Amino acid sequence: MKITVVGTGYVGLVTGACLAEYGNDVVCLDLDQRKIDMLRAGGIPIFEPGLDDIVARNVQAGRLRFTTDINESVAHGTVQFIAVGTPPDEDGSADLQYVLAAARNIGRAMTEYKVIVDKSTVPVGTADKVKAAVAEELEKRGASIEFSVASNPEFLKEGAAIEDFMRPDRIVVGAEDDRAIRIMRTIYQPFQRNHERMLVMDIRSAELTKYAANAMLATRISFMNELANLAEKLGADIELVRKGIGSDPRIGYSFLYPGAGYGGSCFPKDVKALCKTANEYGMTLKVLEAVEEVNDTQKSLLVKKVTQRFGEDLKGRHFAIWGLAFKPKTDDMREAPSLVVIDGLLARGATVSAFDPVAMHEAQRILGDKVNYGKTLMDVLDNADALLIVTEWKEFQVPDFGAIKARLKQPLVIDGRNLFDPAIVRDNGFEYDAIGRL
Ligand code: UDX
Repeated sequence: MKITVVGTGYVGLVTGACLAEYGNDVVCLDLDQRKIDMLRAGGIPIFEPGLDDIVARNVQAGRLRFTTDINESVAHGTVQFIAVGTPPDEDGSADLQYVLAAARNIGRAMTEYKVIVDKSTVPVGTADKVKAAVAEELEKRGASIEFSVASNPEFLKEGAAIEDFMRPDRIVVGAEDDRAIRIMRTIYQPFQRNHERMLVMDIRSAELTKYAANAMLATRISFMNELANLAEKLGADIELVRKGIGSDPRIGYSFLYPGAGYGGSCFPKDVKALCKTANEYGMTLKVLEAVEEVNDTQKSLLVKKVTQRFGEDLKGRHFAIWGLAFKPKTDDMREAPSLVVIDGLLARGATVSAFDPVAMHEAQRILGDKVNYGKTLMDVLDNADALLIVTEWKEFQVPDFGAIKARLKQPLVIDGRNLFDPAIVRDNGFEYDAIGRL
């Protein structure tokens, strides 16, 4: 199948590469010349385990190409996936300008039937706008060419995106005509493995499914974060409570980990956007608004723990931070709790040294020289008043506590991800302050 993917960001690149892996002929379009140059030279603009191999293999095989040429990309694919960014507007609603610009480009240049698929996370009703934009462009040039619009939201997790794409729990397709459904079935047939994973539904339900999934997961996290804060007051251990409730199959263990708050490119943006959509329809999503509020507070929790111990004025204090990415296995720092923690410490006069196994370059881009950067996790510890853990990277999980203690000014670990058994840290002579733990 000839496929075009518009946008070579996270979703677009993973989609293009994984579809090429099954023998499709894929062209990826991006208007950012530097990105396309980089991809053509064998570089990958984002850090995602396994993505470089799969891109290189398919480029080599001639099944995956990159272009900035809109006419070429529109002419190529019978299916045109739109996977461009939908950044939040100032008011929290998703900005659709890139999605609609992509749709217009397709409408302007297409000469034969196309299925235009929204892959970006877009508010309910966007497919109708895409349809109208394409139809308007066709009408402007007096062309009468058939096309279908479909919604096919992605559920990729950063750090596990290839695995998620290749072995999906479900493939949600919102489509309203048989021709489009048949084409989508053909594309996704190899991903279905032993049983049917494709859920075909109307377009609006497909669009809402994506927001509902992220909103539900974010809700679980904020709920657990609030309970963790209560557990601290009650003298209970949230990790025991987590296991105690997770063992109920109706609840399950996933996404019950309390921590320093959720970040990333999806949860914060999608929660806001769904609240906003509800407002537009005269409703308030009370639960979801609270989810966002709780998360905002939770991102400052490590700073609160610091000020409770050292006071509001942190002049002359120095803190070591382990973990800058919003979660492990990515260099993505969008909406990362580390940014709130660092800002909070710096604003109170403290100095900060930070280390992350892969996000150092990204951190320097965002934070510049506001913080000191270590080359290793041990480098950042010298003379720090405490070690703050913000991301649960694997390499942080069995540290040399003796060496840490020798470098810190005082043996204090404030752990925003509950990495350790409190007894072990304390046996090593540390004060240990985690999230909701005894
Ligand atoms: C998420 C969804 O999981 C994915 O399906 C969707 O397509 C995009 O958004 P992602 O943002 O990559 O994926 O990360 P995810 O692993 O879901 O984590 C999101 C945030 O929640 C991270 O900051 C993480 O630290 C936090 N989190 C996750 C918790 O605090 N506790 C948990 O139990 C799980």
